[in-house]
Amino acid sequence: MKIIASNFKTNHTRKSASQFIKQVDEFIDKSNIKNDVLIFPSSTSLDCFDIAQNIFIGTQNAYPVSDGSYTGEIGTIHLDEFGIKTILIGHSERRHIIKEPNELIIKKYDFFKARDYKIVYCIGEPLEVKNSGTEAIIEYLFSQLEGIDLSYENLIIAYEPVWAIGTGVVATIDDINEIHSILKQKISAPILYGGSVKVDNIESILKLECVDGVLVGSGSWNVEDFIEMIKIGAKEK
Ligand code: PGA
Repeated sequence: MKIIASNFKTNHTRKSASQFIKQVDEFIDKSNIKNDVLIFPSSTSLDCFDIAQNIFIGTQNAYPVSDGSYTGEIGTIHLDEFGIKTILIGHSERRHIIKEPNELIIKKYDFFKARDYKIVYCIGEPLEVKNSGTEAIIEYLFSQLEGIDLSYENLIIAYEPVWAIGTGVVATIDDINEIHSILKQKISAPILYGGSVKVDNIESILKLECVDGVLVGSGSWNVEDFIEMIKIGAKEK
């Protein structure tokens, strides 16, 4: 059963996010789809949603505290208010644009792991590493996993090559197959692929046995497209 995840990033308002979630829920309900579906709206769109058990609403970010003086951040009291127990950690936009340091990423991982959150932990190599070949890519990816407890039962890894995120450049099926297969030898957690996944390329990606699902940004923001992706995901084992 493939996992289908949507990362809204800085898109959708509170109103449109709630309409989106409602539509996805209605579809899951009527089609009796059992695959896990994860949706990461903006913090301002988090809420208590009356949704199917296999839909998980997650936060794109949170500071590793319950509450306190961390201007602009949210803590677990804000997540608890809505029963949110799913979080995205280590996304490349936070690593590269916001310059979130690895130490903080590891701290977040430990903090949310200790609180039983479902953690989608993102890793991915930049273009210059990709151009140095498979060995360099694997070495880079494992360096991003250092300090992370890979045996955590609520861990999901998302492999998202930085050069493929939001660029329209998707990794080739052979590239994805090669990297996922190597990761799978050492990691028992499900591994999602992310980076320019769209309705028209998702099927061939999900057909790979070593791909447990996808984390989708721009290709998922239209609800009809996301529902189509869920449908395709439900057909794969
Ligand atoms: P993209 O983003 O699908 O827009 O490339 C993927 C992601 O950042 O998770």
